[in-house]
Amino acid sequence: MSSTLITNIGSLVTNDPSQRGPLGLIERAAVVVDGSVVTWTGPAAAAPAADRVYDAEGRALLPGFVDSHAHLVFAGDRTAEFNARMSGQAYSAGGIRTTVAATRAASDAELEANLARLVREALRQGTTTIECKSGYGLTVADEARALRIAATYTPETTYLGAHVLAPEFADDPAGYVALVTGEMLDACAPHARWVDVFCERGAFDGDQARAVLTAGQQRGLIPRVHANQLSHGPGVQLAVELGAASADHCTHLTDADVAALAGSDTVATLLPGAEFSTRAVYPDARRLLDAGATVALSTDCNPGSSFTSSMAFCIAVAVREMGMTPDEAVHAATAGGARALRRTDVGRIAPGARADLLLLDAPSHVHLAYRPGVPLTAAVWRAGVREV
Ligand code: NIG
Ligand code: FE
Repeated sequence: MSSTLITNIGSLVTNDPSQRGPLGLIERAAVVVDGSVVTWTGPAAAAPAADRVYDAEGRALLPGFVDSHAHLVFAGDRTAEFNARMSGQAYSAGGIRTTVAATRAASDAELEANLARLVREALRQGTTTIECKSGYGLTVADEARALRIAATYTPETTYLGAHVLAPEFADDPAGYVALVTGEMLDACAPHARWVDVFCERGAFDGDQARAVLTAGQQRGLIPRVHANQLSHGPGVQLAVELGAASADHCTHLTDADVAALAGSDTVATLLPGAEFSTRAVYPDARRLLDAGATVALSTDCNPGSSFTSSMAFCIAVAVREMGMTPDEAVHAATAGGARALRRTDVGRIAPGARADLLLLDAPSHVHLAYRPGVPLTAAVWRAGVREV
C-alpha cells in the first residue's frame, strides 16, 4: 500500500459536515489517499507527507458522482421513437416493450459488452458508483441473467421485473404479478440488493406495486420506486410508507407527497434526463428542498426515456430548469446519490471514505452548470485507482 498526496487543489468539495457550508468546501486544499481510502483532507499548507505527490494545478476536486438510477442491461436503441417524440408524439411506458424484444434476442456477451461500454462511458464523465436495474427481460431467465451480468459490474443491482407487464401477460396482470413475486423473485433475489417497481398508469397500480415491493422485502431486498413520473399516483406515498430508500422521478407531486418525503428518510431522486428526452415538464426541486426533503440527481440512463450517462448534464439541467443552485445540484449528484443508495463510503471526501475522486478541468464545481455540455473531466480515481 502506498500513499498519494493530491495537492494544489483550487477548491475541494468534501460533503463533510465538519467543513464549510453544505458542500464542505476547502479552498487551496489537499487530500491524502492511502490504498483505496482517503486518510486526510485539509488546507494544502498543512498537508502531511506521502509516498507520491500529484499536482492538481489549482483545479477543483469533488467526490465521484453517485448515479443511483440507471437501466444499463439492454440491447438495441430507440432512435426512431426519439425522433417521433421530437416531432410531437407523446412518451408512453409501452415503448419499453421494444427494448424487451431486443434484449431477449441478445446473447449474454452482447448484453455484457453494452453494459461495460456504458459503465466506462459514465466513468469517463466522473461517475464512480452506478446503480443498475433489470427490467428489459421480463421472463424468469431473462431477468435473472440481467442481474447476474449487472452484478459483475456493480453491487448496486435492482430487481425491476415489474417494469411493465411482460407481453405474454398482457391480459393477465394478476398472473404476471404472481410471477414477479414468486418464481422470478426467487431467481433474481440472489443477484440483487434492491427491488423496484414502475408504479404508473400503463404499468403497475398501487396495490400491485405494494405486492411486488413487500415480496421483495421478505426476501431481504430494499425497496426503491419509480413514482409519479408521468402523472399523479400512489407511488410516492407507497415508497414512504414502506421505508423505501428512494422515490424516483417525483415529477407530479401533491403537497401531501412533498410533505411525506420531507418527513421521511426516503430520498427524492430527480431524473432530468427523462423530462429532457421526453419533452416533459421538469420536477420542481426547489419545492422539495424548501420542504426539507433530501434530493438526489441521477441519469436514469436507458435507451427509451433518457439515453444519457452524463451526471454533469443532469446537474446543468437541474440548475437551469429545476430551481437548484449549483451547490445543491452537485450535492445531490454526489452525497444525495449516496443517501439514495444508503452508502456512507461514497459521495464524500473525508477520512475513511473510499477514494472516489473527480478532478475537473475547471477551478470550481460551479463550472459543471456554468459550462454545460463541455467535457470537464481531467482525472478520475475509483477506490484509489486512477481510471481516467
Ligand atoms: O425510468 N419509467 C420507467 N422506466 C424508464 C423508462 C424505460 C424506457 O422507456 O425504456 C424510466 O424512465
Ligand atoms: Fe428509470
